[in-house]
Amino acid sequence: MIIGMLNQKGGVGKTTLSVNLAASLAQTGARVLLIDADPQGSALDWAAAREGEPLFSVVGLPRPTVHKEIAQIGQGYDHIVIDGPPRVTDLARSVIMAADVVLIPVQPSPYDIWAADEVVKLIQEAAIYKQNQKAAFVVNRKIANTAIGRDVGEALAGYALPVLAASVTQRVLFAEAAAQGKAVFELDKSGQAAAEIDAVRVELMEFAK
Ligand SMILES: Nc1ncnc2c1ncn2[C@@H]1O[C@H](COP(=O)(O)OP(=O)(O)OP(=O)(O)O)[C@@H](O)[C@H]1O
Ligand SMILES: [Mg+2]
Repeated sequence: MIIGMLNQKGGVGKTTLSVNLAASLAQTGARVLLIDADPQGSALDWAAAREGEPLFSVVGLPRPTVHKEIAQIGQGYDHIVIDGPPRVTDLARSVIMAADVVLIPVQPSPYDIWAADEVVKLIQEAAIYKQNQKAAFVVNRKIANTAIGRDVGEALAGYALPVLAASVTQRVLFAEAAAQGKAVFELDKSGQAAAEIDAVRVELMEFAK
């Protein structure tokens, strides 16, 4: 399966969720490739910070030809996660065209909810070419026990796309793991951050079937 992690808005958690989702998929025994389609190269930086064995392969492909190259580059992998760029429209279009399922991280903030209309429009435009494509929101950086965390689902209901029931809470572990090029489960195997990522993986796999 090819999963495109996309949102035109910057800093919503595309790279954080991409590396952790890729790691979670790799943990199930799947062969996983992470494509860094962002010119900022954050996923490549994550991989470079890592010491020891990689959990999965990471390649940089910040070009609007991802959808044309993916069949070749993705050969031999069970799952491919594409970490998309913020803002760059032609790259985002290419990621949408490449993906079987687009996952849109959003933070529980009104600015993020408003800004999501850009990526939703791009997905709707691409629907002409990709009739079977699936797309869903995933709430990231939810703050535990706050109303804004609960309300975000309702606010996103204004868009025609579903919101995953699984969501990811704001936790310092995500930044700590990123600094070492690690996935959260490597720092805290039975912790809640790892459990939330696994829940996103399980729901996404079911959703994308
Ligand atoms: N659930 C979380 N808990 C705590 N910190 C988080 C979480 N998700 C993301 N962050 C932090 O938020 C910042 C932005 O995250 P990230 O780089 O993943 O976003 P992005 O959408 O990839 O950004 P860009 O648009 O620049 O590519 C990072 O410092 C990251 O560590
Ligand atoms: Mg990023």
